[in-house]
Amino acid sequence: MESGREDRRAERLAPGLGAAIFDPTMKNSLQGIYALLRANDPVSAVPTPSGTTMWVVTRYEDSLAVLRDHQRFGNDPGKIYSQEQLDEMYAGLMEHLTEDQVQRLQEVDQAVSRHLLGVDPPDHTRLRKLVSRSFTPKYVEGLRSRVQAITDALIDDLAVGEDRGERVVDLIDRFAFPLPLTVIAEMLGIPLEMREQFRIWSNAAVAFDPTHPGSDMSINDLLYDFIEYIRMLIDEKRKRPADDLLSMLVIAEEEGDRLSEPELVGMAFLLIVAGHETTVNLIGNAMLLFFAHPDQWELLRANPELVRSAVEEVLRHTGPVEHSLSRWVKDPTEIAGQPVAAGDQVVVALASANRDAAQFPDPDRFDITREPGRHLAFGMGIHACLGAPLARMEGQIALSSLVARFPDIRLAVPVWELTPRSGSLIHGVAALPVDLGTRREV
Ligand code: HEM
Repeated sequence: MESGREDRRAERLAPGLGAAIFDPTMKNSLQGIYALLRANDPVSAVPTPSGTTMWVVTRYEDSLAVLRDHQRFGNDPGKIYSQEQLDEMYAGLMEHLTEDQVQRLQEVDQAVSRHLLGVDPPDHTRLRKLVSRSFTPKYVEGLRSRVQAITDALIDDLAVGEDRGERVVDLIDRFAFPLPLTVIAEMLGIPLEMREQFRIWSNAAVAFDPTHPGSDMSINDLLYDFIEYIRMLIDEKRKRPADDLLSMLVIAEEEGDRLSEPELVGMAFLLIVAGHETTVNLIGNAMLLFFAHPDQWELLRANPELVRSAVEEVLRHTGPVEHSLSRWVKDPTEIAGQPVAAGDQVVVALASANRDAAQFPDPDRFDITREPGRHLAFGMGIHACLGAPLARMEGQIALSSLVARFPDIRLAVPVWELTPRSGSLIHGVAALPVDLGTRREV
């Protein structure tokens, strides 16, 4: 298309287009929309029912500026609005629900909202300090042999299935999901028999969006059960503390001023959900990218040492987290010259910032030899991903092991038959049927 005409079309299309990020029907078209937004409406206004505005930020530099500035952009709406105002805003978003449903939702929200991503300093600083030691690169390195053993067992199990004539397997179900879940469950000291139940619960936690009419309200009951289970686990650790992260947090709570009961429940909830919902899709998205770029798979197979930059490139190109959680504007200010009002929300489109040509040359090209730039797949600033060293290690071990054992692995269905994960936050597929090809013994 002639470029002048394209620009004019973009101008007409862009206003309000930022809302596409929350539209489930747009999930596969978002990169095209981000390109339009970066060019024409980089701080895009989405009106909310309560009369405030949500701003969707798509350029790299602006995204970095918002994420790094927790003084101007906070995570805790309770610092700006009273509980009454928040309840009113919440109810306004969900006029399609009954009073009972709204009340139950508010209960769930209050039970888990005091977690790292829902609070600002000084609470954030205190809470993060409690867990940061268990996620440092050095500590995580100590888990490497255990993560490799879990991975090997899962791969052996895939191979056994193959011996039984089972050539096509769902790689999400049989590999990408159980790997990070087993790791985080072992770290926290959670019995593995609960694995399937956890999958149902934490899928519910990231997919649930009660503001969309037609959302499945029974998911709320699942979240209720999840929280009940977390409380029960905490009681169990109180009675029988063990050498695990959850017991350590329970002890911190009992010692008094370091962690309250709601904070303890919120922390356990966040670590379980964030600890695997994301890494599942790092592995799934990586394999999808390699299926579409067999030359890059071949390159990794021939040069296993490229696995580190390969994982970084997957995170940059098609990371598992589409956007940040909401930031709340504390005082009137501006983002890239766009005035924003106190009480407005700001959402950073991480997946867009990572494809900004001003930061990454030829950004749509998937190239595992690319010099790792500073992508935003793990966020940035004080809320930058706590689990990044663990996720990186899991991703590297998963890819190295798959490429060594199943070099001929391929997608077993046409790509258009894959179903995207529901909810706006996570970018990934619900299932990934693969043909394992010829197995290599290593
Ligand atoms: C590839 C995998 C992962 C990705 C892409 C990812 C991405 C992110 C992003 C983008 C944020 C910041 C959100 C925002 O600023 O609004 C975040 C925060 C967080 N992530 Fe991850 N994550 C991953 C894996 C993990 C793992 C394995 C854990 C481990 C338990 C984890 C725990 C957390 C926690 C606790 C926070 C909140 C940090 C804070 O507020 O201080 N994540 N993650």
